[in-house]
Amino acid sequence: MSTNLKGRSFLTIKDFTQEELKEIIDLGERLKLDHYAGKDEKLLNGKSIGVIFEKPSTRTRISFAVAIFELGAQALILDTSNMQLKRGETVADTGKVLSRYLHGVVARVYSHKTLEELSDHGTVPVINALSDFSHPCQIMGDLLTVKEKKNKLEKIKIAYLGDGNNVCHSLLFGATKFGMNIAVATPKGYEPKKDVIKDAKQFAKESGGSVLITNNAEKAVNDADVIYTDVWASMGDETQHSKRVKVMKPYQINDSIVSKAKKDVIVMHCLPAHRGEEITDSVIDGIHSVVFDQAENRLHIQKAILTLLI
Ligand code: CP
Ligand code: NVA
Repeated sequence: MSTNLKGRSFLTIKDFTQEELKEIIDLGERLKLDHYAGKDEKLLNGKSIGVIFEKPSTRTRISFAVAIFELGAQALILDTSNMQLKRGETVADTGKVLSRYLHGVVARVYSHKTLEELSDHGTVPVINALSDFSHPCQIMGDLLTVKEKKNKLEKIKIAYLGDGNNVCHSLLFGATKFGMNIAVATPKGYEPKKDVIKDAKQFAKESGGSVLITNNAEKAVNDADVIYTDVWASMGDETQHSKRVKVMKPYQINDSIVSKAKKDVIVMHCLPAHRGEEITDSVIDGIHSVVFDQAENRLHIQKAILTLLI
């Protein structure tokens, strides 16, 4: 096991080399096999890890709690509404204090800056459990899922339809680090951030992948091996929900759009889904869907991330 990841924070896939990301995926695969063989190793025996939430969560909360338990460590699941942060203690002071007790901090926050502050002021690794900018643990699990289903990542075409949000940003980084061809179709005004597109294009150049940003959903899914979507209004964007539902309608994953991709296309969604909005029941419950494999792989990949960083 390499040690070059030890002590680092995992805030965005962008900061990691293909080799480092591959090490995480390879370990995730191995830990999954061990788990199925009933041989979970206590790789973080005796450690304490804080898992902090500013926003709701089902998958992230539970998969981290179980991952940490199965690694032999204890998880402290904390909601910021019950911490002194709520009463005005600074993020910097919180980061310093947490580092005196914990071996690692996992946090889901509104502003990505909060994660950077926690990491800058603390001395233990901080793992991004979703911010307004990115959702790297999700996409690492998803890359493991694509690899399992397609036996490779390089040259796989992935089409992302809908909102150019946090999940889309991490997918752009993850796909282009591994030489995948990614096409993102969003309505005008909902494209991923310009800096993210610029970085992803640079990574694609280095890895032999490609990036297409378009407003045309059919163009994006043409010849796709993977179709990916996420909710149209993320946590924090709820007030824009009805406006977004109207403008995003042409980007819905339904049977018609799925039929335009490769015959063996897999359909992915990080969940939770708004059924009938970004994805229809027939697709999410249909033969192409791998959404529950994705959810499961959060457990295995997060064990790998925790083990390598902490
Ligand atoms: N995909 C995901 O992060 O789900 P939760 O919001 O339930 O954690
Ligand atoms: N983009 C969504 C992902 C939820 C897992 C959100 O931020 O709400």
